[in-house]
Amino acid sequence: MELAAATFVPPALALARVTSGTLFGLTLCLVEVEVGCRRGPAHFQLAGLAEAAVREARIRVSSAISQLGLTLEEYAITVSLAPADVRKSGSGLDLALAVAILEALQRLPAGGTRGALVVGELGLDGSVRPIPGVLPMLDGARRAGIEAAFVPKDNAQEAARVSGIVVYPVQSLQELIAHVAGKTSLSALTHSTYLPRASLGPNLAEVRGQSTGKRALTIAAAGRHHLLLLGPPGAGKSMLARRLVGLLPPLSLEEALETTALHSVAGLLDKSSGIVDAPPFRAPHHTVSDVGLVGGGGTPRPGELSLAHNGVLFLDELLEFRRSALEALRQPLEDQKVSVVRARARAVFPARPLVVLATNPCPCGNYGSPRAQCRCDPGARSRYLRKLSGPLLDRIDLHVHIPRVDVESLRRDGSERSESSEDLAARVAAARARQAARKRQGMSRASDNSEASLEELERCARLDTKSTRLLEAAFSHLGLSARSYVRLLRVARTIADLDDEERVQERHVGEAICYRTLDPSEVRMLPSESVSQRGRPPSRAQRPPTDPSD
Ligand SMILES: Nc1ncnc2c1ncn2[C@@H]1O[C@H](COP(=O)(O)OP(=O)(O)OP(=O)(O)O)[C@@H](O)[C@H]1O
Ligand SMILES: [Mg+2]
Repeated sequence: MELAAATFVPPALALARVTSGTLFGLTLCLVEVEVGCRRGPAHFQLAGLAEAAVREARIRVSSAISQLGLTLEEYAITVSLAPADVRKSGSGLDLALAVAILEALQRLPAGGTRGALVVGELGLDGSVRPIPGVLPMLDGARRAGIEAAFVPKDNAQEAARVSGIVVYPVQSLQELIAHVAGKTSLSALTHSTYLPRASLGPNLAEVRGQSTGKRALTIAAAGRHHLLLLGPPGAGKSMLARRLVGLLPPLSLEEALETTALHSVAGLLDKSSGIVDAPPFRAPHHTVSDVGLVGGGGTPRPGELSLAHNGVLFLDELLEFRRSALEALRQPLEDQKVSVVRARARAVFPARPLVVLATNPCPCGNYGSPRAQCRCDPGARSRYLRKLSGPLLDRIDLHVHIPRVDVESLRRDGSERSESSEDLAARVAAARARQAARKRQGMSRASDNSEASLEELERCARLDTKSTRLLEAAFSHLGLSARSYVRLLRVARTIADLDDEERVQERHVGEAICYRTLDPSEVRMLPSESVSQRGRPPSRAQRPPTDPSD
C-alpha cells in the first residue's frame, strides 16, 4: 500500500502515542512510544534508556516507511519511550514506532491502535518479523487489562495460546496500515486448545539388559529424584539418560505455558506449534558457560537449567564441566528458580528440571562395577573421585552403577521383550498419583517425594521395626552421613509408591540403600559388604569394592 503524496505540513510539533512493551526476564513492561514530528532539518532523537537494538530501530523504521513512498528526511523526529527509567531491549518496539510516526505525520488516523499492544520487528521492506517473548508479553498485557494486540504473524501460534486477549497477526506494516485506515480488516486469531503430548524421544525398549539402570530411571521419574549414572565408557549411560524424559508424565497446561514462556524468551520456540507441549530434554555441551547453564546476562535470558524446566537436564561427562558452572547450579536447584538482579530490577526464571548426571567413576571407568576390575592407580582414582565432590552431588538422591552389558546379554535380550518407555511411564504415573493423593489429603505439602520434609516423611514413610533395623545397620555398616538419611527415606517412599504400598517396608528401604553408592560429604565409594543383602531385590549386586586409598 502506498501512502498519498505529502500534502500536509505538520504544525510546529505533531504528537502521537502507541502502546508497546519490552520484557525484563518474563515480565512485561508496557512502553508508551511517543513521537513528536515537525518539518525541519532532518534529525531523529530517541530518549528513554534504549539499548542498541532499540536505537537501531530508526534504520529499520525509516526504510520500512520509505517503502510506502514517504521519506522521513524532511522531518525532525523526537521519540520518547516511557517510562524513561526502564531499560528497553530488543527490536519489538519497531512496529509501534512506525505506526506512531505515521500517526504524528497524519498519514494514519490518530488512535487507530489505542488500547492495543503493538509489537514486532520491521524488515527493511516493511515486513513484520517475529520477536522472542510474545507469550509472556501477551500474558502480561492481558493482566494489565489490555484487550487487543497486534503481533508478528510468525508468532501467531504462540500468541493463540493466550486466552482473554484479541490477537491480530500482522505480516507487514502495509497490512497494519490498511487495517487501521479501515481499508481491510485483519482477522483475529482463534484461541488454540491445549493437547498435551507424550515425549517423542528414543524408547527404553532399545536398551538391552540394564535392569538396574531402567529401574533407577523409573524411580527418578516417579519421585523426581535427581540421578547420577556411573560406569565405564560405552556402558550405555548416555543412552539411558536420554530416555528418562520419556517416562515423565505429560505437561499440564500451566506447566506447558511456563516452559513455553522460557523457550519463547530464549527465542527457541518452534513457530509451527508455538508451544512446548511435552517435557523438554536439554543436554548442554560441557563447554557451556556459567550464564549459558544457569541463565543471566545483561538482558537476562534463561539458561539450560530453566529451559529444562518441567523436563530433564542431562549433564553428560559431568567432570568435563567447569566447576564454577556446576557450583552455580546449586542454589537454583534448591530454590527451583534463577534470580537475576540488574540495577533495580530482578528477573526470575523458574527452574525445576529433573537432573541426570553421567560420568566414569575413575579413569578406566570400572571402579564400583560388580563385573569388572578397576585397573587404576589408587591415587589417580582418588583424585578423580574428588572432582566429583561438592554440593551438586549432595543434591542427588540416586547413584547408580551402569556396568557394560556383555555380548551374550545383548543377544539374549534381543529375543525377549524389553520393557518399553510406555510400560514404565504407566508405573511412574501410578506412583505419581499416589503422591498427588497424599497431597490432596493434606498428608504432605510436597508435590514430589524428592521434596518431602522430614516431618512429612515421618507421617508418610513411617518405618516398621524391621525397616528401622535395616536403616540403622546401613548407617553403621556403610557409614552413611546424616544428610543421606532424608534422601534415603524419600527414595524408599517412592519405591513403595511404585509398589503401590501404603507403608514403606524393609525391601523398599533395602533397595533405597543401594542407590547411595557415593558419600558426597567425603566423596568415597561406600564399602562393599552390604546390608542390602537383607532387603534388596537381587538385581543389585552392585556394591562397589572397598578402596584402601579412601
Ligand atoms: N544396553 C545396551 N543396549 C543396546 N545398545 C547399547 C547398550 N549399551 C551400549 N549400547 C550401544 O553402545 C553405544 C554407546 O553407549 P553410550 O554412549 O550410552 O555409552 P556411555 O556409557 O555413555 O559411554 P561414555 O562413557 O563413553 O560416554 C550406544 O549408542 C549403543 O549403540
Ligand atoms: Mg556417554
